[in-house]
Amino acid sequence: MPPTSEYKWARYLPVADDYKEPDLEDYNHVEPSTRVDRTKELTFLNGDSEITEISPEIGTEIRGVQLSALTPPELDELSLLLGRRALLVFRGQDFRDQTLEKQKQIASHFGRLHVHPISRHVSGSREHLVFYRNKENDVFRSGAAQNRVSTTLWHHDQSFECHPPSATILTGLTIPSKCGGDTEYVSMTAAYRKLSPSFREYLETLTALHSGVEQAEESLKKGGSGILRRTPIETVHPVVRVHPGTGEKAIFVNRAFTKHIIGLKVEESEAILSLLYDLIAKSTEFHARVRWEDATVIVWDNRITNHTVISDFSYDKGDIRHHFRLTATGERPIPVPGKLSPEALA
Ligand SMILES: [Fe+2]
Repeated sequence: MPPTSEYKWARYLPVADDYKEPDLEDYNHVEPSTRVDRTKELTFLNGDSEITEISPEIGTEIRGVQLSALTPPELDELSLLLGRRALLVFRGQDFRDQTLEKQKQIASHFGRLHVHPISRHVSGSREHLVFYRNKENDVFRSGAAQNRVSTTLWHHDQSFECHPPSATILTGLTIPSKCGGDTEYVSMTAAYRKLSPSFREYLETLTALHSGVEQAEESLKKGGSGILRRTPIETVHPVVRVHPGTGEKAIFVNRAFTKHIIGLKVEESEAILSLLYDLIAKSTEFHARVRWEDATVIVWDNRITNHTVISDFSYDKGDIRHHFRLTATGERPIPVPGKLSPEALA
């Protein structure tokens, strides 16, 4: 790590302590966008804003709007746009200059804030998850990653939680000096729509087991972060979930945390999951790759996207890739009405 007195974003360097968190509780999530009048224009995109769609299926880039200045009704509107576009890229933001409390106040508008079970945070806030990568702390090219052809790993964040993350705010602090270290996203609603109607109908009747156990075990191994704040859990979620703000259906399985489809034989479960993971990874027509610029903040809806970091950057010039993340949790994933009994999700 650089000497803390010389580094501009020293207050966001990761700290690790050995505190424990209680198990997460069930709660009633209220989707902010349900408070928005759908017949009116979105007012948070003011006259000075510049809006660019990244691809037809996913992602909108916004300049000229400060996240830190939005009112609660405007954040409700943002939530509606987020549900529709899945990924919002805000440029020229002063979000990182705000106090930790102010940042958390904005993020918590979207749902109860999540504390990561194994990762480091910033001093003074357990909800501020930190990603700090430099030559000495290169998780992409050390340990198990050394034996992989690619470090691309499409995933939902923490899908094993009973209330998995929803709106997720990732703020760039220091980015590689030339290029590289982009983040790529895929629309899980578009992935769902690409499937044939009969296969979609079948998937809607399925549930899958999501597990945090392996991630917890990796953390405790030599080379892991050594942190484990909560007892790891496993949760059964529908394979197709309904977004509470838009009513759209999305595939909800991912290579990082989904273990198997309940009730199917091993080969059947593996065949279906492989098919879906291939669809997610290879269908670039519903991907969006975001290049980090200075003062960029990305907001994505974790319920209807998968994402991966692209670890193609070099540390040769002393480069650092440093971000912090605030993560709102959402509702318990909603199954397609009439397709699953309550017992199937117990
Ligand atoms: Fe992630």
